[in-house]
Amino acid sequence: MGCLSWKYQVLCLLSFLLHSTPSSFSSSLSSISPCSALLHFNRTLSLDRDASPSYYSYRIQMCDNSYPKTAYWKEDTDCCTWDGVVCDRTTRHVIGLDLSCSWLNGPIHSNSTLFSLPHLRTLNLAGNDFNYSLISSKFGNFKALTHLNLSNSMFFGKIPYEISHLSSLVSLDLSYNYGLLIETPVWKNLTQLRELLLDWSNMSSIRPNSLMNLSSSFTTLSLHDCNLQGKLQNNFLCLPNIQTLDLGGNWNLDLGSLPKCNGSSIFLKFLDLFETRFSGELLDSIGNMKSLKHLDLYNCNLTGSIPTSLSNLTKLTTLDLSYNSFRGLLPLSLFNLPNLSGLYLHNNQLAGPLPNHVSGLLNIKNLYLSSNFLNGTLPSWMFNLPSLESLILDGNQFIGEIGEFKSNSLGYLDLGYNKLQGSIPRSISRFVNLTYLSLSSNNLIIMLELEMISKLKNLELLDFSNNSLVSINNNVTYTLPKLSSLNLSSCNISEFPILLRIATTLQILDLSKNRIYGQVPRWLGNVGRDSLYFLDLRDNLLQGPFPTLSFLGLESLFVSNNKLTGEIPSLICNASSLKVLDLSHNNLSGMIPKCLVHSNVLLMLDLRMNSLHGTIPASFSKGNNFRYIYLNGNQLEGPLPQSLANCGNLEFLDIGSNKINGTFPYWLEGLINLRVLVIRSNNFQGHIGNPKTKFPFPNLHILDISNNEFSGPLPRKYFKYLKAMINVDEGEVALKYMGDGYYQDSLNVTMKGLYIELVRIQTIFTTIDFSNNSFSGEMPKIIGGLKSLKGLNFSHNNLTGYIPSSFGNLSNLEWLDLSFNKLMGEIPRQLADLPWLEVLNLSHNQLTGHIPSGKQFNTFANDSYTENLGLCGFPLSRKCNSHAAKKPPPLALQQKDNLETENGFGWQAVSMGYGYGVIFGMLMGYLMFKIGKPKWIVRMVKLEQHIMLRRLKKNAQRHGGKK
Ligand SMILES: *[C@@H]1O[C@H](CO)[C@@H](O)[C@H](O)[C@H]1NC(C)=O
Ligand SMILES: *[C@@H]1O[C@H](CO)[C@@H](O)[C@H](O)[C@H]1NC(C)=O
Ligand SMILES: *[C@@H]1O[C@H](CO)[C@@H](O)[C@H](O)[C@H]1NC(C)=O
Ligand SMILES: *[C@@H]1O[C@H](CO)[C@@H](O)[C@H](O)[C@H]1NC(C)=O
Repeated sequence: MGCLSWKYQVLCLLSFLLHSTPSSFSSSLSSISPCSALLHFNRTLSLDRDASPSYYSYRIQMCDNSYPKTAYWKEDTDCCTWDGVVCDRTTRHVIGLDLSCSWLNGPIHSNSTLFSLPHLRTLNLAGNDFNYSLISSKFGNFKALTHLNLSNSMFFGKIPYEISHLSSLVSLDLSYNYGLLIETPVWKNLTQLRELLLDWSNMSSIRPNSLMNLSSSFTTLSLHDCNLQGKLQNNFLCLPNIQTLDLGGNWNLDLGSLPKCNGSSIFLKFLDLFETRFSGELLDSIGNMKSLKHLDLYNCNLTGSIPTSLSNLTKLTTLDLSYNSFRGLLPLSLFNLPNLSGLYLHNNQLAGPLPNHVSGLLNIKNLYLSSNFLNGTLPSWMFNLPSLESLILDGNQFIGEIGEFKSNSLGYLDLGYNKLQGSIPRSISRFVNLTYLSLSSNNLIIMLELEMISKLKNLELLDFSNNSLVSINNNVTYTLPKLSSLNLSSCNISEFPILLRIATTLQILDLSKNRIYGQVPRWLGNVGRDSLYFLDLRDNLLQGPFPTLSFLGLESLFVSNNKLTGEIPSLICNASSLKVLDLSHNNLSGMIPKCLVHSNVLLMLDLRMNSLHGTIPASFSKGNNFRYIYLNGNQLEGPLPQSLANCGNLEFLDIGSNKINGTFPYWLEGLINLRVLVIRSNNFQGHIGNPKTKFPFPNLHILDISNNEFSGPLPRKYFKYLKAMINVDEGEVALKYMGDGYYQDSLNVTMKGLYIELVRIQTIFTTIDFSNNSFSGEMPKIIGGLKSLKGLNFSHNNLTGYIPSSFGNLSNLEWLDLSFNKLMGEIPRQLADLPWLEVLNLSHNQLTGHIPSGKQFNTFANDSYTENLGLCGFPLSRKCNSHAAKKPPPLALQQKDNLETENGFGWQAVSMGYGYGVIFGMLMGYLMFKIGKPKWIVRMVKLEQHIMLRRLKKNAQRHGGKK
């Protein structure tokens, strides 16, 4: 029976399927007519527009005009005429099949009749959805195949070994099948191969060097984001015919240094090596690649200067050298490249001014120069670029005024963190496409005139923070329908901008550090009613009761440093998404709402320095999320709830300066993340006793129980097992701070005799403060094992006995206060070996004998030793002789307050800070103190105020700006 007419084709196929045995299957498959094979193949698939979505990356553009080719196939016509089908003119064999972007949806199994087209030379099924089919080993049967393209079509699993049998293959494209596993280097056997594209597959088990010795006729090698690992002796650039080379995103791939290739790589058009590792500099020879259009070396660890030879590459449209360590002057000749559409030099260390004149850049869309050391004024050409869409210059040192833009095309403008002056250009009002506008942290004088921004209907982010906002026109008649982030922090404003009233889509609002005073207007409660999740009103002059806000979606609320009075409203219990709540430094009274403590979401609760009273609610729930709890400086009373033991993630607990009573909270000793425990200045009492667990407080760095009524012996066993205080590997943690930077971790501690606020706390900062209690007995020797301790304060107790010589092992100790006890005997000589000891107070004891001399001890003054009748030697005027012990010290010495240090900095500077009431002053004192001692520094780096905004911006840059 002939199988020519379509009516018989299906019958033929059925009879063939019925009569063929599995073993004869594949041979019989190839015996059916190609047209019926195609028809049957088509029947196993359905059509779905979503199977071929248009796809765009920086290099490929796919399925822009997709349509279902097979829908136009006509069954009773010759399949050689069908769309996408190519037949050999003489033999009538189907030799080509192109069904790319044809809405095909469904699996391709090994029994598919697709595999009975043995004469296929080209096969393109890219841009469809084959439902995570495995790539069948039958693909290895297309012996004549020269071009195989299965990219972006939802194949899955391993590529079959049989692909290596396609010995005529010239082009193999399996890219964009996410995670496709490549375990065999099939290309090694394919001698005709010129193009290999496997982007997004998983090549982690392939040795990069199996890519060596590719045929000299290779034109395309594209393996980005393939998880290639290890070192690659890099000769690709020297392949004489290479045109496209893309190894980007293999961040474990070490390419060594870029090779020099004489005369070759002149055809290279596309070179993308972003996020691979290089060592060293970019060589001048890169200027020989005259055909280059796209050069992306983003984040490649390159150093040195940017070669000026790059300006020979006149065909360049994209040049990305961002996130490297390029130094030296900005190469001005790059600005004359005629065809550039994207120039990305941000996040390097480039210096110098911008060119005064440019001849290129007529097509530039994206100009990114942020985070360098560029200076000078913004040249006029910058405002005349006709195609400019993103201008990102933040984080440089530009001065002068911002000019008026000529074109209307800008969508993204960031001039923040410079030294610009003057006002904002009026031309901004014409940017109907503008989505992102940041002029933050300049010296601009901004009139928030509504006519100017009212036309920016696409504006999503507006950041004028840290400038002088001189006038806000508060007559509103417009909306900014897309505004999601508004930052007017540090703008010197004194009232809530009414434009907020209509900002219904707002997600992030920052009005901190202004002079906004009085009651919060009622309408603020409606701002971003369903969208607001971040609200910062810190550091203003807000008064009256707590504002009625829409708490629904709120995640972070900062209202600290205002003058709010009254109670925390129970409405706050509606804030079921609240993660961070900072109401510190107000005048709030009443009780802590139970719901706050009961929350399973709250991560930080900061109610410090208010007038809250009552007990701490006892209902911390199991599995809660708390990491920071600060209740310091209120009038809370009653016991510390035992349910705090449910806070498995807790890192900071500060309940100092309240009226809490009870015994030492040993039930917290199982909190493995607890770093800071401050219960100072409360009414705790009794003996501390022994720990109940083997390793109590395994992560504790700061333990402050001072100013309570504890009594009995010092808790020897606790000291024995405080793991985190025994050994901190400083090399490893040197620059880590406590917390995750989400919230600025700050804490009041007593340091060197002063009660101060640390704004960020280094993880190696470890102190113990037991002062002002009634501890008695001797100091246990075991304390000498707490090698990481920076500060130890046992002053104002009833301790007796000797100072253990083991204290000489506290090699990190910087201050030691044992004053006002009943210690006796000699000061152990070993203390003189403590290299970092800066403050020593042993006054008011019964110590005797020779004060150790040498090293740090040469820097301590008399008041370290006052009221110890038996001490003698430097710095005391009393000489050590047999009668010394009996003479009282001269009165003048006791009172003289002279603690000059080796750095020439005295406590005067510190008390100046005190006088101003500025904690920071004291810390500056401390910092000055530390200069020249690089070992550890309590860095006062203020966390960026606007983490959230910066984060948002980063996303915008990555998604909107490029890639
Ligand atoms: C191919 O399959 C599609 C979807 O199942 C169908 O619409 C089309 O008519 C088929 N073409 C032929 C010639 O059968
Ligand atoms: C082809 O194979 C698949 C999966 O093994 C099976 O579900 C399907 O029924 C087979 N089709 C035919 C016509 O045998
Ligand atoms: C190379 O191709 C030949 C011929 O198709 C095949 O027999 C052989 O197994 C292949 N070898 C490898 C390593 O792929
Ligand atoms: C970066 O390059 C330097 C040499 O310039 C090299 O020492 C260093 O290991 C490189 N870093 C990485 C992460 O590859």
